[in-house]
Amino acid sequence: MTATGRPPLNRRLAEFGTTVFAEMSALATATGAINLGQGFPDTDGPESVREAAVQALRDGRGNQYPPGPGIPELRQAIADHQRRFYDLSFDPDTEVLVTAGATEAIAAALLALVEPGDEVIALEPYYDSYAACIAMAGGTRVPVTLHPGTDGGRPVYRLDPDELRAAVTPRTRLILLNTPHNPTGTVLTREELAAIAALAVERDLLVVTDEVYEHLVFDGEHVPVASLPGMRGRTVTISSAGKTFSFTGWKVGWVTGAPELVAAVRSAKQYLTYVSAGPFQYAVAEALALPDEYYTALREDLRAKRDLLAAGLEAAGFTVYRPAGTYFVTTDIRPLGEKDGVAFCRALPERCGVVAVPNAVFYDRAEEGAHFVRFAFCKHTAKLREAIERLSGLRKHL
Ligand SMILES: Cc1ncc(COP(=O)(O)O)c(C=O)c1O
Repeated sequence: MTATGRPPLNRRLAEFGTTVFAEMSALATATGAINLGQGFPDTDGPESVREAAVQALRDGRGNQYPPGPGIPELRQAIADHQRRFYDLSFDPDTEVLVTAGATEAIAAALLALVEPGDEVIALEPYYDSYAACIAMAGGTRVPVTLHPGTDGGRPVYRLDPDELRAAVTPRTRLILLNTPHNPTGTVLTREELAAIAALAVERDLLVVTDEVYEHLVFDGEHVPVASLPGMRGRTVTISSAGKTFSFTGWKVGWVTGAPELVAAVRSAKQYLTYVSAGPFQYAVAEALALPDEYYTALREDLRAKRDLLAAGLEAAGFTVYRPAGTYFVTTDIRPLGEKDGVAFCRALPERCGVVAVPNAVFYDRAEEGAHFVRFAFCKHTAKLREAIERLSGLRKHL
């Protein structure tokens, strides 16, 4: 309480305290544990891209407010990227918007497109900023849960299209998608996306799709939902340089979509940051044009790390949901005799010197995620090996 007699944080945000990532990273620092909690790489992106940022700073490019929609070079590079990888064409002047990371793009899209009282369907478990941004926009979140199951004996998460359909009401405004999906590592298949697209068209819904892990797909393919029939005009696609180029601190993200949608998102964005990351925008324009070998090497490096950590976690006794994409692996802790992921993660640094994140925090229905825990593998191989060694001790206590 304050002198005014009212809590400082308004009602819309009252349920959102400190993010679990901050809490777990602080725990990692305090205990010296290996941090496999937060999803940031411990190796910076390509030297040439870093040099491009330094050069832009030295040349005085971007040191003052860049243009509101983003510098023309970057908007062109984003349009070129969408054509090169997905054969999607966007006009860099009217259909591309540069944002302060995907995080601002998500916030601006929801603030722009949602009226108070509108329902927003989000795939649960979901990235934590979605719930807060829906709340800030005055919307009502409607979770549709990805359920754990098996496919040919392999643990996987799947979307039930009937549950998605049943979640749509006359108040539904949009479906908020994330593929490849954090935290489960699920990559929505073409068939699943086609079902979502058909539903969006039938019920006249917008789709906002967070595709920040688009280049981190190990099994299957990344299909942008905007490429499906009927979706070009009703989809806001979001991505960012953080994950693809390993510069999460630069916070350069973007939106692509039809002119009316991008104009709407721009209206909200201009009153959030207005602009950001001037010199970094020049560097990211160069990064997007890197040859195919760069993208392949990034993926193959992370594929090897996925295989290493997945095998290590299995050997340590976890049930592993081997991710088809992203740099996260979700595990079930019940085979270790545990059932409360939050308590498990709080104790893990002391117990064996490793930090992970409890999936429960990504759910409205926390009980659905109670016994799942997420580990990030965008870390040095030696660090992953050391973490595996430490985690192998858990079995001894069974
Ligand atoms: C699904 C998802 N969306 C968005 C973001 C944030 O992206 P950015 O750093 O570009 O704001 C993350 C970061 O972890 C993420 O996992």
